[in-house]
Amino acid sequence: RKYANRQLWTAEQFQQTMPKREKYAHKGKHGKGLIIGGSANMPGAAAMAAKASLKTGTGLLTVGSSERVIQMIAPTCMEAMYLPLSDMDGYLVDDPSLSLSGYDAVAVGIGLGRSAQTAGLIHRVLHDSKGPLIIDADGLHHIKDQLESLSQREHPTILTPHPGEMSGLLNLPISEILKHPFQLSAEFAKEYEVYLILKGRHTIITAPDGRQAVTSTGNPGLAKGGSGDVLTGMVHAMVMQDQQIFQALCNACFVHGMAADLMVEYKRAHHDLTASDVIEGISMAYR
Ligand code: APR
Ligand code: MG
Repeated sequence: RKYANRQLWTAEQFQQTMPKREKYAHKGKHGKGLIIGGSANMPGAAAMAAKASLKTGTGLLTVGSSERVIQMIAPTCMEAMYLPLSDMDGYLVDDPSLSLSGYDAVAVGIGLGRSAQTAGLIHRVLHDSKGPLIIDADGLHHIKDQLESLSQREHPTILTPHPGEMSGLLNLPISEILKHPFQLSAEFAKEYEVYLILKGRHTIITAPDGRQAVTSTGNPGLAKGGSGDVLTGMVHAMVMQDQQIFQALCNACFVHGMAADLMVEYKRAHHDLTASDVIEGISMAYR
């Protein structure tokens, strides 16, 4: 009874919930998304999230970053559109010209860095964006002191911390997070009215009502910088694919782990699996 609210998310759940593409589908129906991220010394994070979002199904993708980061990543991801944003010393700052309307989902935080100058940008995204908002990585650092404003959003807010980032959000040692991951996730999601993806060997997805799922896929090849950025891109795409948010999050985590598992089964080993390989594996997982 205690666990009535929890379920294991497997291929069966994925197949039951993942919508098929309609014959007369057009790009507008599969999501107009915005990903904001990257900084002078972490340009790749934005590129990986962007590629993962496109591979997962986003119809039209815009990447917001500094001119310099855009110059670096645009040649590697030609399907995306690019929106230059103001930066200071290589870090993105709030940009009055940034319009957040017209996107079906926004993801923010990957590769941003922790410069205090970036906090204003995060603040504005939190207040002005419409539709599902995914906050990851350094974005989680920037919202630590404004958690109360999370529940004021009228649209779904999704946080994707690893245990270290969760420890920062809760101000608790990582060992405590690892001891009570389900309970702490549920308390946090209910208190701040957010969806929470607590990442790890077994990733736990929690809805604001306390419903929880745990993924059945993934392997140690994912324990490498960049695989989290790939997940962010996948979550960003999934929430725009015409399904309930909770299911979309479970499916993103499921496909992410499955992509890694299939790559390890057929092409790679745990040692050499990279985040780019995981993006490649999305095709096999879907097929
Ligand atoms: N088994 C299965 N899945 C795993 C495992 C494992 N042993 N280890 C990691 N993963 C998965 C997680 O579930 C998650 O989906 O890989 C992904 C890792 O995500 P992050 O921890 O966010 O990693 P990432 O952001 O790519 O890189 C680490 O985070 O701590 C910061 O600044 C640090 O740049 C660094 C970054
Ligand atoms: Mg990360």
